[in-house]
Amino acid sequence: MGHTMKWGTLPPKRPYLWLSQLLVLAGLFHFCSGIIPKSVTKRVKEAVVLSCDYNTSTEELTSLRIYWQKDSEMVLAVLLGKVQVWPKYENRTITDITNNPCIVILALRLSDSGTYTCVIQKPETGTYKVEHLTKVRLMIRADFPVPTINDLGNPFPNIRRVICSTSGGFPKPHLSWLENGEELNATNTTLSQDPETELFTISSELDFNMTSNHSFLCLVKYGDLTVSQTFQWKTPKPTPSANQHLPWTITITVSACGIAVIIAVTVTCLTCRNAARWRQRRRNEENMVIERYSLST
Ligand SMILES: *[C@@H]1O[C@H](CO)[C@@H](O)[C@H](O)[C@H]1NC(C)=O
Ligand SMILES: *[C@@H]1O[C@H](CO)[C@@H](O)[C@H](O)[C@H]1NC(C)=O
Ligand SMILES: *[C@@H]1O[C@H](CO)[C@@H](O)[C@H](O)[C@H]1NC(C)=O
Ligand SMILES: *[C@@H]1O[C@H](CO)[C@@H](O)[C@H](O)[C@H]1NC(C)=O
Ligand SMILES: *[C@@H]1O[C@H](CO)[C@@H](O)[C@H](O)[C@H]1NC(C)=O
Ligand SMILES: *[C@@H]1O[C@H](CO)[C@@H](O)[C@H](O)[C@H]1NC(C)=O
Repeated sequence: MGHTMKWGTLPPKRPYLWLSQLLVLAGLFHFCSGIIPKSVTKRVKEAVVLSCDYNTSTEELTSLRIYWQKDSEMVLAVLLGKVQVWPKYENRTITDITNNPCIVILALRLSDSGTYTCVIQKPETGTYKVEHLTKVRLMIRADFPVPTINDLGNPFPNIRRVICSTSGGFPKPHLSWLENGEELNATNTTLSQDPETELFTISSELDFNMTSNHSFLCLVKYGDLTVSQTFQWKTPKPTPSANQHLPWTITITVSACGIAVIIAVTVTCLTCRNAARWRQRRRNEENMVIERYSLST
């Protein structure tokens, strides 16, 4: 088997200051004794547990050599119970050497995808013989979150500017603005890549005329995947203009005048009628007095 161990590349010894990490992740180890998938898919920044799939006693383990390789590069080695971690995995890879040996890789990067091999060698008549070998394929995904669209205000009168952005995905994305299926001219499209995580960030601005309604689609394509966000623009409700004021004023004025006239007429009529009635009563009373007077005489 072509598992050559590159002992010349052993990293210089560094103090193991990641005890806290160890404690936090101690809980992950119970997975080691579980079922081992031959292919694992994880997302960037997540943690993965890769098991050797070899059950043995802790005593026997101290006499074994355990090597973890990714494709052709070294990851970790356990020799006589001592753990060596290679620089690319340093401070984010821990191992469990009880019962079923496994490794935990934290803060996964895109570059961590590949086939991991665990080799266990057993001492036998002065040499070491391969006792066990396991391969696990690790795939790392980096999905872009749904883009966000933010308002950047008015760069010019009646022109609104919005920005669409998303970050933390891979591979290299392409962003486009669409309205009714037609691509629009975006401004200031920026693309950047984090040198460490290799993840991309993309943003793009769009200017539009505020005087009409719009429905924009911000579409981000990467690999064979897409994420998108829509942005709706409704023209603000028209403010009442002078032309629209006039009919209202007239209506109110006319109505007010009409009501006033009606009230005036009613009041006048009532007053006249009451006056007439009063005069009538007066006349009747006078007549009665005259009648009584004439009767008495
Ligand atoms: C692993 O080994 C231990 C003791 O060596 C044993 O108790 C346990 O049942 C074994 N587990 C499996 C899954 O074989
Ligand atoms: C690992 O951590 C130690 C202590 O914090 C630090 O000195 C060392 O540079 C780190 N190694 C890597 C590869 O980041
Ligand atoms: C986009 O820009 C091109 C060239 O600058 C121009 O010809 C085209 O009309 C623009 N399209 C829109 C929708 O503004
Ligand atoms: C492009 O964006 C940068 C920063 O986001 C800003 O400073 C610059 O003014 C923008 N340019 C245009 C033409 O909008
Ligand atoms: C916005 O659209 C209206 C109506 O289509 C037009 O009259 C106006 O000139 C446009 N404004 C700008 C700044 O393009
Ligand atoms: C914009 O949409 C609103 C609500 O759907 C509607 O009332 C208004 O008339 C529309 N304006 C234009 C200019 O189409």
